Order: sequence, then C-alpha cells, then structure tokens
Amino acid sequence: MAITERARQLRAAGEAVISLGAGEPDFPTPAHIVEAAQRAASDPANHHYTPNAGLPALREAVAEYTAEFSGARVGPQQTLITNGAKQAVYLALAALLDPGDEALIPAPYWVTYPEATKLAGGIPVAVSTDDATGFKVSPEQLDRTATSRTKLLIFVSPSNPTGAVYTPEEVAAIGQWAGERGIWVVTDEIYQRLIYTGETSAASIISSPELGDRWLAINGVAKTFAMTGWRVGWLVGPSDVIKAAASHQSHLTSNVNNIAQQGALAALGGPREPIEEMRQAFDRRRVTMYRWLTKMNGVSCVEPDGAFYAFPSLRPHVERWGSSMGVAAHLLDEAKVAVVPGEAFGADGYARMSYALADHDLETAMERLAAVFDRT
Ligand SMILES: Cc1ncc(COP(=O)(O)O)c(C=O)c1O
Repeated sequence: MAITERARQLRAAGEAVISLGAGEPDFPTPAHIVEAAQRAASDPANHHYTPNAGLPALREAVAEYTAEFSGARVGPQQTLITNGAKQAVYLALAALLDPGDEALIPAPYWVTYPEATKLAGGIPVAVSTDDATGFKVSPEQLDRTATSRTKLLIFVSPSNPTGAVYTPEEVAAIGQWAGERGIWVVTDEIYQRLIYTGETSAASIISSPELGDRWLAINGVAKTFAMTGWRVGWLVGPSDVIKAAASHQSHLTSNVNNIAQQGALAALGGPREPIEEMRQAFDRRRVTMYRWLTKMNGVSCVEPDGAFYAFPSLRPHVERWGSSMGVAAHLLDEAKVAVVPGEAFGADGYARMSYALADHDLETAMERLAAVFDRT
C-alpha cells in the first residue's frame, strides 16, 4: 500500500509510472459474457434474490467445470456460489477450523490466507520455501511442520505470488501425505487454467484417492475469464461442509448478485477462444519478463509456469537497500516502476512482478529496471 500511494503521488506529479503490481487481467470481460449479463439485467425475473447457495443452473455448471478441470465428480449440492474466491477462502476456513487449530500455509503466500485463518479462529503456520526448490513444499517438509493441532493445509497451484505450478507427481505425493495424516486440504484453484506448461489445467489435488472427501476446492471466474469486478467464485466439497458454509454465507451476504451469476453462467458455458487468446497473451508477456529478469544485474528468477506473476530474487540489491521494501521504493523513485515487495507475501529478498499489462508497457518497464539495476 505504501508503494501504491507513492506511485499515485508520482503520477499526480506528472511522472509516467508503470505498475507491475496488478493482481488482475488487464483485458475487458469477453463480449458474450457482458451481453448475457445485459440481457439478464433487462429481465425482471432476475431482479430478485437467488437461492442462498446460488442459481441452480450455475451450481450445476460449476459441478461440471470441477469434473472437467479438477477431475472430481461432484453433485450441485456440493457447490456454493460465493462473492469471489476470496469469500470462499474465508468460508472454507471458518467451516473447518476450531479455535486453536493450525493451518499449514506454504510461503511465499497470498496474504489473505493467514489473515482469513486468524479471522476463523485458527493459527496460521507458515512453511517456508525459496527459489532453490522452485517455491514448492515437499511432503517431508510438511511432515516436519505438522503437529497434533494441524487441521488443514492450504494448497495453491499455480501460486500467487510465485507462479509455481506443482507437477502431477508432486501433487499426488502431497495428497497422499495429507490423506495418510488425516489432514484436510483447502485448495485454491483460481489460476488452474492460466498455465504455460502445455497442459489445459494444473494438476488438482482433489483427485488424490488418499484424501477421500477431506478436501475443499476454491475457484471462480475472476482470473480465467477477466471478471475480477463481477465477484463470483465458488467453494466445492463434501455436502455437509458446503451446507454449513452456505448457512454462514446466508447470514453474511445472502446470495451473490443475481446478474453477476448469470454472467458467470455464460462464462462457464461459453466459447473458449477468447479465454485461450488471453492465456496466450499472458504467456507471451511471461516469456518477455522472464528473458529480461534473467539478464538483469543482481537478479535471478525461477521461470514461472502459471498465473501472471514472476517472483525474482533481488538479494544483492536487498542487502544494499535494507529490505525488499527498500528496493521497491528505490525502483519506484529511480525507474518509475512499481513492484510489490516480497515482505507482503512473507518472503523478504524477492519482489512480485505482474505481467498482466500491455506488451509495450512491459518492455519499457523492463528496460527501465535493467538500467537502474545496472547502475547499482
Ligand atoms: C490465489 C488467489 N486466490 C483467490 C483470489 C481472489 O479471487 P476473487 O477475485 O475471485 O475473490 C486471488 C486474487 O488475487 C488470488 O490471487
């Protein structure tokens, strides 16, 4: 937030600041989705509450989507439509955690995970990783950190902030470990289709046979369909947990906006070409950013395989400027480029750089960063 505020001040003073801070696609929502929502808004039938757990047709579509991309057969009663994936994260943790229960959270992490864990009465336990392992945890490492109070593991692949994607074998090993220890897995699959490894979607942990039904999957339309502002996500899991989460949601927010749900329905059932075009644009920018980062003075980077972030190590610069925050402030002042310091994700020494921006701006930002790093 400090970097965003400083970037705002510089812009107000007429500086051409480029932000690599975006946590969302820079594309508009595809036209067929917008048109479906416009039609829905014109129909008075949609000017009312929907059932608390979501439009039946959307719950059905989510069940089919889960089967297709995560490989688990579920019924619509095992789905809950939420106000963005973020609400699904909180509802999942609130449903599973009792006071004092521990949640294992691989770091670097999306900052909502520890905060939502605390809100739900649990204790976040970070499991640190670094670039040496490609920011991935192993079952051995999880086993060393788990205690008798460990209730669940929060798993995310592709990851925000690192872009790391676990291989199917790595996913299976972690699923087996959790299953054998009786630990629940809350898996965040919001970036599952934004991958650049040649597969259609990232391997999903919910198809691990050892887990049984001790999993909850979080997903949504925000990133894949460029619909962050629509606020539609979902939670999928065992019917009893979903029922509890639905009751919780009913007293918090009732149902998700009816028109936005109709838009999400059009997204899930609609043509795939616009989605694939966006994915290809991200891939092209990913290659550009990675190529630049691997050439910059004092910078090293694990190649990101998913989402739209790179998470380079800036260690020599961090030593010079005291922290990643110090480097980010220096880059903003000298290069007029905003990056998110690693501390925000529990990982000093790194910065998150998003490639969800126009190709030309990305090239310019990279040129400027290279010039500043060369001078230091
Ligand atoms: C890993 C991860 N999960 C969930 C979300 C939230 O998605 P939504 O916009 O659907 O709430 C984000 C958004 O940044 C994210 O990065």
